[in-house]
Amino acid sequence: MQQHFLIDGRQVRLLSGALHYFRVHEQHWDHRLRMLRAMGLNCVETYVPWNLHEPSPGTYHDISALGRFLDAAHAAGLWAIVRPGPYSCGEWENGGLPHWLTGPLGSRVRTSDPEFLGAVERWFDVLLPQVVARETGRGGPVILVQVENEYGSYGSDAAYLEALADGLRERGVTVPLFTSDGPADHMLTGGSVAGALATVNFGSGAKAAFETLRRHQPEGPLMCAEFWCGWFSHWGEEPVTREAGDAAEALREILECGASVNLYMAHGGTNFAGWAGANRGGEDHRGVLQPDVTSYDYDAPVDEFGRPTAKFWAFREVLAPYVDGELPEVPDAPPVLGRVADAELGEWAPLSEVLGALGGPERVASVPPSFEELDVDRGLVRYRVDIPGPREPYQLRLHGLRDLAVAYVDGERVPVGDDGSLGEVPGPVAMEIWVESLGRVNYGPLLGETKGITGGILHERQYVHGVRAQGLRLDAFTPEAVAALPLRAGTGAGRGFHRGTVTVGEPGDAVLVPPAGGRGFVWVNGFCLGRYWAIGPQRELYVPGPVLREGENEIWALELEGADSAAVSLRPVVPA
Ligand code: GLA
Repeated sequence: MQQHFLIDGRQVRLLSGALHYFRVHEQHWDHRLRMLRAMGLNCVETYVPWNLHEPSPGTYHDISALGRFLDAAHAAGLWAIVRPGPYSCGEWENGGLPHWLTGPLGSRVRTSDPEFLGAVERWFDVLLPQVVARETGRGGPVILVQVENEYGSYGSDAAYLEALADGLRERGVTVPLFTSDGPADHMLTGGSVAGALATVNFGSGAKAAFETLRRHQPEGPLMCAEFWCGWFSHWGEEPVTREAGDAAEALREILECGASVNLYMAHGGTNFAGWAGANRGGEDHRGVLQPDVTSYDYDAPVDEFGRPTAKFWAFREVLAPYVDGELPEVPDAPPVLGRVADAELGEWAPLSEVLGALGGPERVASVPPSFEELDVDRGLVRYRVDIPGPREPYQLRLHGLRDLAVAYVDGERVPVGDDGSLGEVPGPVAMEIWVESLGRVNYGPLLGETKGITGGILHERQYVHGVRAQGLRLDAFTPEAVAALPLRAGTGAGRGFHRGTVTVGEPGDAVLVPPAGGRGFVWVNGFCLGRYWAIGPQRELYVPGPVLREGENEIWALELEGADSAAVSLRPVVPA
């Protein structure tokens, strides 16, 4: 029975690892890909985040990045697996789906709904030439293309999967298609589609998982398309790790079953620019919001900074007997920052002025518009509403609040409870409520749920109507826009935008220690490192060396809580 893949007439066992090009600085791709080779892998796998590449309908952003990455993989001597979605999960905002689609379509996404499929088809028209041109039959590295992602964990619309598979074929994909699902009967039945190889995803228990797969697919190559050798972490929770020896044993079991494997993740990288997604807790995945941290280190064998970990060496040993020829040497690490550099962010503007300068148009509506209606993917929205009076103090509540709110009653900040309660508020007063998205849900039935005050503002039992809402998108912070901000000297207190410079001698990989006690976003030379948040567990943000330059470097912080200081510091990454 053929267990392996046939490439150019040769039986090949795929030893693959996930590395998302959009989570790694482009100038580091080559190093990271060579790390994968040195670990013993012969293939790299990546998702394609639709929402990153199509920020608004018909407007495309750097789609050729995928092609450049595939070329880099080829140059590094690796085959490539592409997972074009349209949904990808991956702890990425909205599972990779655009907010402009999930907002209006709601739970019609990931089905054969004509509006959803129409948008997917237009996207595939633009995206797939990048992949097709780089198939192995055309001298490129691409050997497999995935249909959807773990669809059996979400839905059962067989016509949808068929339409996607047909769409891939019609646009010239000739390499084998595959699906990947949890090793459970309902997932494999919901997620498989005729003409595509079914594979399974798991973290351990290879033998049992492949037995389940074989019940559904008696023949063909056996593959674990996501071997979860680590895991991701949420804000406000303990970091999640997996011991190297335990992971190595689970990998050995997969290989001893004669299967191909894709390590998820081989190198996780970073959720730069606020693209981290979120989970909903509980067995039914409808519980509390659990936003993902900025780091996507994943406790992977190649860590967030590109260093080999104990897991790297353990995996290398397990993989070595399966590798053709000698294992390549581990490549030299990229340079690290010469020495510690501190900076005081000595110019600032309060948040309301920043919103005035960089926000979208203010919209007046009866009920609070959602982030989607205001076209805010990552960022925040200010809602203003007047409580009429005279009236007694009554409970004021933000229903369906997603995710975090900072509220002011007549200019005084008041605490907001987890249930959206602001306590007793009299009238007349002027309310200001700033709502911040912590990342859209990327997994489960609440995928794509909207952000904002989604259930109305209630005073006692009465809806408070007449809302003025204004959005502030994270990508409004461009160097040109920031240069025009009315900043004043001083470190400022509280929420606002802060700017400063730091002098660097020898640029290189670093971590940035953000303003103490705060929550917000930070940029270096216009490159958004992602969200920082004093609740942890992540305390420092990765700064890829290529972002820094010798001499003066500009740092911006959008502080949304009111940090204790405006001091940041850059520290060299400690070599392995
Ligand atoms: C699933 C998904 C991946 C990722 C992992 C968990 O397998 O397919 O995208 O979300 O779970 O990290």
